[in-house]
Amino acid sequence: MLNPVADTVPTGDIVLNTARLIDGEVEVTWKGKLASSRFAPFWLRDHCHAKHSLHADTLQRQVDTFSIPIDIMPAQIIIADGSRNLHIVWKHDGVRSEFPSAFLWSVAQTEGREVAPRRLLWDRGSMGEQFPSMSHEQIMADDAGLLRWLSLVEEHGFALATGTPPSIEATQALAKRVGYVRETIFGGMWDFTANLAFKDTAYTPVAIGPHTDGTYSIDSPGFQMFHCLKFDGTGGESTLVDGFRVADQIRKSDPIAFEVLSTVKVPAQYLGDGVHLKAEHPIIALDHNGDYLQIAYNNYDRAPFRLPTPRMNAFYKALKLFNQLVNDPAYEITMRLAPGTALLFDNWRTMHGRRAYQGFRWLCGAYLNKEDFDSKLRVLRAGQQKT
Ligand code: OGA
Ligand code: ZN
Repeated sequence: MLNPVADTVPTGDIVLNTARLIDGEVEVTWKGKLASSRFAPFWLRDHCHAKHSLHADTLQRQVDTFSIPIDIMPAQIIIADGSRNLHIVWKHDGVRSEFPSAFLWSVAQTEGREVAPRRLLWDRGSMGEQFPSMSHEQIMADDAGLLRWLSLVEEHGFALATGTPPSIEATQALAKRVGYVRETIFGGMWDFTANLAFKDTAYTPVAIGPHTDGTYSIDSPGFQMFHCLKFDGTGGESTLVDGFRVADQIRKSDPIAFEVLSTVKVPAQYLGDGVHLKAEHPIIALDHNGDYLQIAYNNYDRAPFRLPTPRMNAFYKALKLFNQLVNDPAYEITMRLAPGTALLFDNWRTMHGRRAYQGFRWLCGAYLNKEDFDSKLRVLRAGQQKT
């Protein structure tokens, strides 16, 4: 139950320049950095890194937040340890707090909030024929290989793994390299042919338009892995659409539709097979900075909901535009999933679908949680900093 009050320390050597009390706040500057930042005394005491306030092993908070005086003030502000630590002695009790300069710098950058990663939005033209891809061997070999593959997925919203042994076991091992295989109504590792084992279009040979999975789930699967283990027939190509690219297009071309799509929460449900799952998401969810967080779009699974008629009509108009763009070949890439090539994609960003097919098609795959993928990337990146 590691719950770090301290965020991961950023790269580079962060060295303090000045620290002083100004207008009741502690203002800090760093060597070689232009920006200064101000920290509230109460916040500083609450985030003290000294052993008495932050457990050295668990990194969990030890300080009793609720006994800190609301008007707490420093008696002394000291730049220490070769300017890599700030010490503050508190006026009311004489206790000494410590703060690594890198911790203060890190928090000052994003206020402790997650920020959207660097992403390359794509459409058919910009993606071209060369899809992000790595060999299964490299991904499985070491952390550096896995990090490169996951970074591709983070950047493009998907990546392929070539040379993956065409078995459920090997696909599972690849999925587990990333995170836990998620248990859902479809099982953990799932596989299907057109046998209608579940009441879902997946289990038929008909075409499936671009969508994200699990719109009926409060925490829609963050990532999905597909591996086609056998195909003997015609059709059945897979389609991918960068949902953030489409969202960006609408943001620029139709701000009214964008407002509707990013605000109206659309309920979805899975009813049958002994469950009744229900959740609601905006089609385009934004984070606290207005960056893209999650696309949740599956017109097949939308549940009944109503809004006042003018708003409802605005919703249908915006939905139509969204659907038109996600089905526009200009935004779509296609590929034939074949034995040996596994696909990992961001189900919060990249919509997927498949063409109708005739013949035999056997697909296996897994859902992964967003938090586990993100955690793996953080851990791999932190490990890389140390080497
Ligand atoms: C699905 C789905 C794609 C496929 O089951 O939700 O998108 O290739 N299937 O069968
Ligand atoms: Zn799907």
